[in-house]
Amino acid sequence: MNQHRKMVIAGNWKMNKTPNEAKQLVKKLIPLVSAATCEVVICVPYVDLHAALEESRGTGLKIGAQNCHYETSGAFTGEISAKMLAEMQVDYVIIGHSERRAYFGETDVTVNKRALACLKFGLNTIICVGETLSQRQAGITEEVLRMQTKLALADLTAGETDKLVIAYEPIWAIGTGLAATAEIANNACFMIRSAIKEIFDDQTANRISILYGGSMNKNNAAELLSQPDIDGGLIGGASLEPHDFAKIVEIAVG
Ligand code: PGA
Repeated sequence: MNQHRKMVIAGNWKMNKTPNEAKQLVKKLIPLVSAATCEVVICVPYVDLHAALEESRGTGLKIGAQNCHYETSGAFTGEISAKMLAEMQVDYVIIGHSERRAYFGETDVTVNKRALACLKFGLNTIICVGETLSQRQAGITEEVLRMQTKLALADLTAGETDKLVIAYEPIWAIGTGLAATAEIANNACFMIRSAIKEIFDDQTANRISILYGGSMNKNNAAELLSQPDIDGGLIGGASLEPHDFAKIVEIAVG
């Protein structure tokens, strides 16, 4: 963590919790994180957004979605646009999560288009990048991260990066209980920051928060979050238990 960057602890609920369950979970979480001095976000299923926004109104807790379409409106059955999310006053959107890339055909091109749409509508945009186990074993982690980062940020100007956050999520660590070591995670975040420097400049790259995601929990958070290039966490499983998530927030703010 670098003092000039925003520390972000974001929960990714994935396809969990009905609207009623979301309301209860947010209600439990709010008092546990109300004193946090970092950005605390939960990214919930679309149908839970309304309940989560209502319940968190007037508190510091930020609410996010887990995807959005790149067009503003049109014949895209089943999709939700950035404009719709912005009007609901959703704060954050996750773009390009590896589960979307693996199961729903997201590509670097559509990730880029979605990110541009989110930023255009003023949404804080968390773009996920990360290598598979076979890519890591083949020694091409750096190439993969540079390529994903550069393609995700294509056509973006440095001035549009104010609301941009990147999440480094090694696919082999997601939902497996096998978090990356702090050293591996920090090195990868450094590689991503170097790629951002190549696209823009040092100043821009040094302002963008880069999160680590993949089996982060209350036991490994302290070591991961103390690394110089890790500016927060994107947390799946552990974000569904309010006390565990709040503990990570507590660790993040030190
Ligand atoms: P996990 O998920 O914490 O359950 O590994 C992280 C993510 O997919 O964002």
